[in-house]
Amino acid sequence: MCAQLLSTQPYKGTRDFYPDDMRLRNWFFGKIRNSLELAAFEEYNGPMLESLEMYIAKSGEEIANEQTYNFTDRGGRRLAVRPEMTPTVARLVAGKIGELNFPLKWFSIPNLYRYERPQRGRLREHWQVNVDIFGCDGFEADLEVISTAVMLLKGFDADESMFKVHINNRRFFNDVIAAIAGTDAEGSRKVSKVVDRKNKVTREAYEKDMAELGIDGDKIAKIDALYTMSVQEAAALCPESRGACELLELFSALKNAGLDKYCVFDFGIIRGLDYYTGTVFEVFDEAPENNRAMFGGGRYDNLVGLFVKNTNITGVGFGFGDVTLENFLVTHKLIPDIYNQGTKVLVTRFEDVPYEKYIALTDKLRSLGVVSSMYIGVKKFGKQIDYAVKGHYSHVAIMGASELEANTVKLKNLSTREEVTVSLDELDGYFAN
Ligand code: HAM
Repeated sequence: MCAQLLSTQPYKGTRDFYPDDMRLRNWFFGKIRNSLELAAFEEYNGPMLESLEMYIAKSGEEIANEQTYNFTDRGGRRLAVRPEMTPTVARLVAGKIGELNFPLKWFSIPNLYRYERPQRGRLREHWQVNVDIFGCDGFEADLEVISTAVMLLKGFDADESMFKVHINNRRFFNDVIAAIAGTDAEGSRKVSKVVDRKNKVTREAYEKDMAELGIDGDKIAKIDALYTMSVQEAAALCPESRGACELLELFSALKNAGLDKYCVFDFGIIRGLDYYTGTVFEVFDEAPENNRAMFGGGRYDNLVGLFVKNTNITGVGFGFGDVTLENFLVTHKLIPDIYNQGTKVLVTRFEDVPYEKYIALTDKLRSLGVVSSMYIGVKKFGKQIDYAVKGHYSHVAIMGASELEANTVKLKNLSTREEVTVSLDELDGYFAN
């Protein structure tokens, strides 16, 4: 009897990345890394496993209790596979707080795990670009992270018809809810949870949840009205609020920087994570089929303080995932034919030429910076060409006994079918063009 075969499927909600998939992911993360480095962000990383407490302390109930993969290790420590990167980066900053050169501009591209119901735009494992600035309390840092988010999408030739940055402010939210409903800080926090769920539940359920917090009729109508207001109209409802002033300052800076066409005020942006204290924002794809946020972020004043006493180092940043980004790029046809990029040479082999001559030719190509490989194994010439075509090689190098004797190699361009015989000493000239 046969033993039962094991499944080839990856664990639910995770993906295998075959070379074609990796090529795509490396392409878009490569572009992102280049853009971030150009803007002088520096890359960091941390471990996959962190203490579960970090997420219980600040990320909020949904992430800590429902979405972490957690376990107790053999030493009795309660650990979580990281569901997000922000607590980790706050820990790193706190760990060297005396040595770092603030304001810090840092980025990372970790893989994260969340126990979610897999669906379009949401998986259990995703890679998330994290961009954060630490040590600048002013609007300048908020402006810098939002303009970086816009810059990254523009780097893929996206324009304002394809995405919008939806912006709100947690302090403003609390103050305006207090002004409308007379809530205290805890009351406003509870209201924020209901508002955050608004689009996921029926109107009836929303009103019922609000009523339980003492908000109904007229007060609900006043809150509804906030969704259609401009930032100036909304801020005028509580002009003394620090959050309202921050919103006005940020929107004015965005306008002066020419970024207002990418941005809208949106009272519905709360963010599910508990640590945000000021500006909060999400970037949405304008295509209705991708209705999930692509980027999410905001300002957090108290995270570094979880790890060191008496610090006032604040952070602001965002995360965005490969799943939603890929949906966005595919939907808006922003992925070029990346397979046709660059030169890649297959050195074909004949059995009557000594093997080491091919090794030397391949080495020479590599020393010139040309991506190249020798055909490994023995196959008829035609089969080697098939292999080159399927493997996205741009050229084949042909060196039979006669070329070897003449110290030359024939280079065939597989897309134009053009063939050129080049002296081995002049190979660099051929590839320099
Ligand atoms: P978040 O809103 O939980 O924020 O996630 C940010 C982005 O990561 C989402 O907009 C989405 O693109 C992607 N994402 C999140 N969960 C999943 C999932 N299950 N599957 C696919 N993609 C997902 C944070 O994580 C914050 N720590 C971001 C941040 C950095 N805030 C400040 N700095």
